[in-house]
Amino acid sequence: MEISKVPSIEHLRQIYQRRAPKMFYDYCDTGSYTTSTYLDNTAAFAKYKLRQRVAVNIDNRKLNSTMVGQPVTMPVGLSPIGSCGMQHADGEIHAARAAEKFGVPFCLSTMSICSIEEVAKHTTKPFWFQLYVMKDRGFATSLVERAKAAKCSALVLTLDLQVLGQRHKDVVNGLSSPPKLTIKNIMNIATKPRWALGMLGTKNRQFANIVGHVKNVGDIASLNEWANHQFDPTLDWSSVEFIRKQWDGKLILKGINDVEDAKIASKLGADAIVVSNHGGRQLDGASATIDMLGPIVDAVGKKSEIILDSGIRTGIDVLRALALGADSTMIGRAYIFGLGAGGEAGVTRALEIIRKEMDITMALCGETDVKKFGRHNLLVR
Ligand code: GLV
Repeated sequence: MEISKVPSIEHLRQIYQRRAPKMFYDYCDTGSYTTSTYLDNTAAFAKYKLRQRVAVNIDNRKLNSTMVGQPVTMPVGLSPIGSCGMQHADGEIHAARAAEKFGVPFCLSTMSICSIEEVAKHTTKPFWFQLYVMKDRGFATSLVERAKAAKCSALVLTLDLQVLGQRHKDVVNGLSSPPKLTIKNIMNIATKPRWALGMLGTKNRQFANIVGHVKNVGDIASLNEWANHQFDPTLDWSSVEFIRKQWDGKLILKGINDVEDAKIASKLGADAIVVSNHGGRQLDGASATIDMLGPIVDAVGKKSEIILDSGIRTGIDVLRALALGADSTMIGRAYIFGLGAGGEAGVTRALEIIRKEMDITMALCGETDVKKFGRHNLLVR
């Protein structure tokens, strides 16, 4: 089926699963340990029922909004995804270009395959940069400087990955970027010709923000290894202040899933808080983010914007998050499914699918402006 006609994110996922090597598909579409939080993130949305309202003039509907002061055509940004450029050759560039054309923010991960500079070279508008703080604080500072030089319009500081939650599939698959040329991997990649040809045609095959930028690091094959040795386990709220001092622009704190943490983040002057449990990839047993959203919104009020991440697979989920009080949302897997299925066109398709689902659902709720969507649109408040 032509990518531009694929009807749902789930259909994109099925195409992606056929096209990407197993180890990268598995890396994306799983959670830590028993995967209970990963599964719950998506399942929990269905509990929030929307009110069906009729006989309302629903002509001229608007989905545009703002995210940290930036105009967006819909309140849905692309979350930072490690190894994105392994799901499709030059994946970060494809995703950033699709987001730019669509009018939504793209956030580049520290653990991306294409570097900050490479993505900046292939885009015309500012993107967001996500920072992992390393033990070597000088390196964290240099990443912030590079993000400034690339004119990134927001810094997204991730707080929920000081240690890496184990994803069993990655251990079994021997995940690495690029994949090791074992017989098992070669046999699997031989069945993924589009992916392999793309990879042969690019030089972006390593964690390019790191390799060549850190002393004594010539090669990091595994995010796992790197995270275990380099991520800073001492990262605390004073470290957040340390980063805040270096970055004058919009600061977004990501990985908050608790009312007390949200209050502290807001008090420290976060422009936005991303309510996230890292897509169920970190604390297995944590609550689904959609279930934490209402209490966090009530506690933070209007002091910081609230962005909901983790588990969104449809435009209906986006509206549920907005109804519970989120200002906007971010999607991770939902766009990676599109990227792996068809590169830039696949990401565009994922965004189109979500936009159409939002538009139709909003209309059937009797609303015409997404900015007015709120708790009155929920059946049980
Ligand atoms: C990295 O961000 C991961 O979740 O693997």
